[in-house]
Amino acid sequence: MASGQDVRAPDVASDATLRARAARVLPWSDGLYGHMGVRGLPAGFPQFHERGDGPLVWDVDGNEYVDLMCSWGPMVLGHHHPIVDEAARDQARRGDALNGPTAAMVELAELLAATADGAAWSMFTKNGTDATTVSVMIARAATQRRYVLAAQGAYHGSAPWCTPRPDGTIFEDRAALEYFEFNDLTTVRAAIARCDADIAAIIVSPFKHDAGFDQELVDQRFASGLRELCDRVGAVLIIDDVRAGFRLDLRGSWAPLGVEPDLTARGKAMGNGHAISAVTGVEALREAATRIYATGSYWYGAVAMAAAAATIKVLRDDDGIEKMHAAGRQLRAGMARQAATHRLAIRQTGPVQMPYLTFRGDVDRQRLSLFAQEALRGGVFLHPAHNWFLSTAHDEAVIDRVLDATDRAFAAVAQQLGPNVEGSAVAR
Ligand SMILES: Cc1ncc(COP(=O)(O)O)c(C=O)c1O
Repeated sequence: MASGQDVRAPDVASDATLRARAARVLPWSDGLYGHMGVRGLPAGFPQFHERGDGPLVWDVDGNEYVDLMCSWGPMVLGHHHPIVDEAARDQARRGDALNGPTAAMVELAELLAATADGAAWSMFTKNGTDATTVSVMIARAATQRRYVLAAQGAYHGSAPWCTPRPDGTIFEDRAALEYFEFNDLTTVRAAIARCDADIAAIIVSPFKHDAGFDQELVDQRFASGLRELCDRVGAVLIIDDVRAGFRLDLRGSWAPLGVEPDLTARGKAMGNGHAISAVTGVEALREAATRIYATGSYWYGAVAMAAAAATIKVLRDDDGIEKMHAAGRQLRAGMARQAATHRLAIRQTGPVQMPYLTFRGDVDRQRLSLFAQEALRGGVFLHPAHNWFLSTAHDEAVIDRVLDATDRAFAAVAQQLGPNVEGSAVAR
């Protein structure tokens, strides 16, 4: 929770000033590159942020928000979690980037082996893109095959093989990719047939969380079917758990389904904001992992490893997943009640710990934009075109505060754009 102390930097510039300065020295004239750019978001969204504490964040203009984006995933215990911060500080006092790794690397790999499924060994990287890219390399090294199958529209990072925009890439970067539809095994079989048995891996996220769309949970038959197909054709099953990992299940997001991947790409929530990601794998792929050459100046950084071990232990020992689940249930039930009261038809999709909301029939997203803008005005930071994230710092009182703001946001949508429920029935 917020400390209540004013720890604002004394010389902090305003958002408007920083945007003007940024326009001169960053590539964009109207914001920022990548997913954190606020271009296209409703007016009022701050581009520059100042600090965070527990479930709260402050922008550079001093506005306080309940954080429903959690740094786009990494913040799983809340900003500045004391145990994680202390573990990081303690390691930093001894060293971070040294001439080789510290004991923290072995300890973290041991912890993952004991906590996660299919984690006989771990390789540590920095970003989710590193982890998915290294996973694909290991699969190709193991199978000596070319093709990788991925779901149409899924995000696996920003390297040339997977970035969603073609600029700066060449056709050959994706020449050995084939696509299927999430939750549709027929399309997977068709993609396999197109690859002429030359398939190294199938990479898939644990549920469909394509930005800007309703989320879609995985069908058990699809998950089991992918496992069977991989076994049949000798391909590696890679779960891209970068976004959902450490929020749904500490073992891995498909563990409740009983489907074990060969490789898992992990990241985001792993270090509660410290830069760390990982590939974990089954015993059979250990040898292939030793053959690829993948490394980075900061991949062995001990501070992030100590922070990750602390994060995973707190999640494990404090029943972190259930806490987020309870917060998610409270939020989902509260927003459902509110929307019905305001005669608004909404869809709430995805796991409750990673909520997302859209309005039925809102083709131009006018309702969703207004809702996000009004939530922001009411002190809640959420994104209109990307799933949100909860952390263990989002307790009942914090969710009540969120619900106060969402109630007013729904009221504004109903008042300015009218209800979208026909008669008394909820429009589909
Ligand atoms: C499913 C998934 N995979 C990979 C990535 C890439 O991670 P990073 O941005 O840390 O490179 C992301 C990032 O949002 C993601 O959601």
